[in-house]
Amino acid sequence: MKIIKKKSKLKELLYSLSKQKIGFVPTMGSLHAGHISLIKASKCRCDITICSIYVNPTQFNSQKDLRNYPIEIKKDVKLLKKNHCDILFVPNDFELYENNLKRSEFDLNNLDKFMEGEHRPGHFQGVATVVTKLFKIVNPDIAFFGEKDLQQLTIIKHISKESELKIVSVPTEREKNGLALSSRNKLLTKDSFNSAKIIFKSLCYCRDYINTYDIVTLKNHVIKLFEKSVFNLEYIEFVNVKTMHPTEKTCDNLAICIAANTENVRLIDNIIINAKETN
Ligand code: PAF
Repeated sequence: MKIIKKKSKLKELLYSLSKQKIGFVPTMGSLHAGHISLIKASKCRCDITICSIYVNPTQFNSQKDLRNYPIEIKKDVKLLKKNHCDILFVPNDFELYENNLKRSEFDLNNLDKFMEGEHRPGHFQGVATVVTKLFKIVNPDIAFFGEKDLQQLTIIKHISKESELKIVSVPTEREKNGLALSSRNKLLTKDSFNSAKIIFKSLCYCRDYINTYDIVTLKNHVIKLFEKSVFNLEYIEFVNVKTMHPTEKTCDNLAICIAANTENVRLIDNIIINAKETN
């Protein structure tokens, strides 16, 4: 695996690889089996797989969250080599932002109005900023993103819709207790890791009873469940995957999304009930 820090070097290398199908997996490192499923999806569909590791400051809402974000570059390199990633791009702030470490403003078509967009103002502008910069450097044929960050996935599909680039989503990988794999899981204590199963359990309950109870009743049931947990429920929303707007009536392309936190660790998860693939 080639490890490249400079965008000029990466562009040079990519130029020599033209005509090959390039798959791209952008990450913030601290890799786990969820990221590896993206690498594997890329290896299946593309000739060359590029992973990037860059903890993007403009998508964090607080300096504390940014400072606490787990970084394990040596372990990441080992894991990527083991899974036959071809190129790892590890830019620093200057390579991506030069002297202007700021978010750009994108028209996100109100996809960022609720849930993560509401609870983390500016987060998706930061994601769109860095992803656009990375896409410009790597110029991939296909980019791979996890379904766990469903709102991010919808927003990235939206900002890429005028380009040739194909965005492919990959299902969420889970722990045995149902907890969605996330780099932030490493920050959980043993007890909160155990308690975190409430998130997936609630999602499964809503999915299983979607045709039995109305959405308001389901949401109230989940709110009650969380009252007995160490996790604080930030939101449970039933949304249309295409618009990311909450709905109180079941519809096509329905997903159920949850955000919850404990001891300064914030987790998100979702279940897609039915969605028609468009990209
Ligand atoms: O999902 C992530 O890890 C990040 O939001 C991404 C897409 C790599 C942008 O920094």
